[in-house]
Amino acid sequence: MGKMFDVLQKLEREKTADQKKEEPAIVTDPENQVLDNKIVSFFAPSSMVTEQFRRLRTHIIQPNQQNSPKTIMITSTLSGEGKSLIAINLAIIIAVEMQSHALLVDCDLRNPSVSRLFGLKDTKGLSNYLLGETEIPDLLIKTSIDKLNIIAGGPLQENPVELIGSERMKNLLQELKSRYKDRYIILDCSPLLATTEPTVLTEMADGILLVIKSGKTPRESIQQALKLLNKDKIMGIVLNSMEYRTKALIQRHFGTNRYYHDYHYSKTHPEPDNWEKAAFILKDIKTMLLKLVTRK
Ligand SMILES: Nc1ncnc2c1ncn2[C@@H]1O[C@H](COP(=O)(O)OP(=O)(O)O)[C@@H](O)[C@H]1O
Ligand SMILES: [Mg+2]
Repeated sequence: MGKMFDVLQKLEREKTADQKKEEPAIVTDPENQVLDNKIVSFFAPSSMVTEQFRRLRTHIIQPNQQNSPKTIMITSTLSGEGKSLIAINLAIIIAVEMQSHALLVDCDLRNPSVSRLFGLKDTKGLSNYLLGETEIPDLLIKTSIDKLNIIAGGPLQENPVELIGSERMKNLLQELKSRYKDRYIILDCSPLLATTEPTVLTEMADGILLVIKSGKTPRESIQQALKLLNKDKIMGIVLNSMEYRTKALIQRHFGTNRYYHDYHYSKTHPEPDNWEKAAFILKDIKTMLLKLVTRK
């Protein structure tokens, strides 16, 4: 199994070896990039939480399949459910472990957070581009992680719906898609029930991941959100911030894992009945992520 995976990865690398033209991107001083400590796939690659991101990646992307989605949008019903954190960790897994180009685009023009997660301040971003104030080479930011570029949100604007729904946005995604054949574009979106932008972006994305915050997102909101999305494009639901009361439950859902102790989890919270609740709403749930409490 492992050998086959290596061979497939090698083939994938060879296929893209001829795409040598280096994309122009702004290179920031790595010392200016102080990554948020919840970016576990970077700081704790062997932790159980990173393993969940790996699983998520393998569920949604099968690189050897022709129609495997390349532009993936991540949304949720409301803000604060973990979209950005999931988007960034997924992008890192794609860049580091698949050795594919990953581009994380902050499409939440109301509450942009990607640049903040990378510790960057006052960066130009998507809003500048959509207003015609900047062009692609001044938009892409090279991160300290090989093969991972980001596009920040940029300064807040009055009319995010018009900007995201513009021809310029469509053209940008087309252009970015066409540059590297093995590139995955992750769109970190605004919340579905509070803003119109994700519904507009649905048309431009190949696949959608819906994030649900365990114990917080009401069932009615999930149902409402699902009505707004193109069902054919939903790749799965990520149940985020799961908490377990006992070790037995962890083992039931994740198997034993010696890296579990990389992170401290609360063992005092309710059982994961939210998982069953969510499964009841949409059977095709793919991944759940534990609540992660990072070390101080
Ligand atoms: N599984 C998790 N465990 C612990 N904290 C989390 C988890 N998911 C998200 N958070 C935290 O919750 C806050 C909101 O997450 P964020 O990704 O910004 O949400 P959104 O993009 O949906 O608004 C952030 O401080 C983030 O670090
Ligand atoms: Mg966000």
